[in-house]
Parts: sequence; C-alpha cells; structure tokens
Amino acid sequence: MAFKIVYTSKFEKIMNDNPQLIVKFIQAHKRKESYFDSNVEIVRQEQRNGFFHNASYIIRVGSEKIFVKETEITEETEKFYMTGMKQYEVLIQLQDVLQKIGKVYPHNVEVVEPYFAATYGQTSFLGMKYIEHKRMNEKVVPKRIRNKLKVISFLAVIFAKAGDITERNAFYDEEKNKIIIYDPIKHEERLLKRIVNAFRTLKYVQSDSIYGL
Ligand SMILES: Nc1ncnc2c1ncn2[C@@H]1O[C@H](COP(=O)(O)OP(=O)(O)OP(=O)(O)O)[C@@H](O)[C@H]1O
Ligand SMILES: [Mg+2]
Repeated sequence: MAFKIVYTSKFEKIMNDNPQLIVKFIQAHKRKESYFDSNVEIVRQEQRNGFFHNASYIIRVGSEKIFVKETEITEETEKFYMTGMKQYEVLIQLQDVLQKIGKVYPHNVEVVEPYFAATYGQTSFLGMKYIEHKRMNEKVVPKRIRNKLKVISFLAVIFAKAGDITERNAFYDEEKNKIIIYDPIKHEERLLKRIVNAFRTLKYVQSDSIYGL
C-alpha cells in the first residue's frame, strides 16, 4: 500500500536517531496491536471519544512522547481538513499566524507542535507532541481565559482560515497560563462569510475582557 509522509525537522531528527520507527509504527497499525522493544513503545488506544477518528497511538521514543491520531480518508474528512495531511497543514499555518499576532498582541496561545502527517491507503495519521493537560471544557478555567480563546478563534478564522477552535479542541496549562489549540479545521468560505462567522463567535465575549488578553 502506498505510504506518504511529511514531517518537521524535529521529527526528521527523531527518525534519524530511530531508523525503524515508521516501520514499527506501520506494523503496529496493520496488526492493530501495541508494539514494544528496548527503544520504542507504541501503545494503541482503541477507544476514542472522537467522532471522526478511529484509533490513536502513543509513541514513546527516547525522551519524546508523541500522540498519533488516525482519521479515515473520506469525502467529508477531506473537505473539512480533518485528515492527517490537511490538519497538519492547518496547524502549521495557524502556528505562523499566532506567532505574528503575538508580536503585536501577546496572547500566550499556541497550537500543539505538529511532528508528521502520513497517508496510508484509505487512512491517515497526524503525529504531534503529546499534551498531558485536560481539555478546556473539562476543567475549571477563568472566564478571562475562555474569552481569550474566543478572541483568538475570531482572529484565526479571519487570518488563518482556521475554524472549530473551541474549548473541546484546546488544552489549558494552568501553570503556564497557556492555551494549546490541537484540533482546528479549515474554513474555506469567502472572506465576508468568515468575518460573519468570526463575529458570531465574538458576540459572546464581554467587551471589557477583550483588553485583558
Ligand atoms: N496532542 C495530544 N496529546 C494528548 N491527547 C490528545 C492530543 N490530541 C488529541 N488528544 C486526545 O484525543 C481526544 C480527541 O481528539 P480530537 O479532538 O482531535 O478528536 P475529535 O474526533 O475531534 O474528538 P472530539 O469530537 O471529542 O473533539 C482528546 O480528548 C484527547 O484526549
Ligand atoms: Mg476535536
């Protein structure tokens, strides 16, 4: 089966240090099993609360812990940029836009660090840094932080065409007071429609807290 992969320079280094890593991962996927040896640990998780994702894997290699989510390639997952390759693209674009916004408007919101995306037959994978924190919708988070996510979501729709940036798709690190966005999709609509959507999101933010970014 054809296998296609794109990756960041950080993941390239991990692969160079562990030349069999991808082969081991594909084996684990094919057998629907976990995989362990002295260098690599791949744990398959069958249960997902996710709607569109089939399985997920946690890869431990050296000091790295990587979360891999598997998404079937269908018309719908392609269209909404939910396949591994497409979501990787959105994450990288959004990462860049958030950095630029941060230069004029410090916000302490990041996207999860992407590592790789792969396509294998009818399925796809997105590998990213494993995040230990709970999602924002699953914990007590100050109103100010919730509003901040809405403002960033507004800006992301306009400047990065990235959508679905909600509390269930973001982790919150209270120690660093940081929001980590991890499951954005793409908004393909025309600019005007995107702006209208963005304003719908913003409507719920109290004007005084916008200054508290
Ligand atoms: N980088 C990560 N590190 C750790 N866990 C992650 C990571 N990315 C995703 N997860 C886990 O996978 C779950 C669902 O992920 P995701 O939002 O990408 O899928 P989904 O199909 O959109 O699910 P949902 O509809 O619940 O949002 C999260 O609750 C989280 O437990
Ligand atoms: Mg999600």
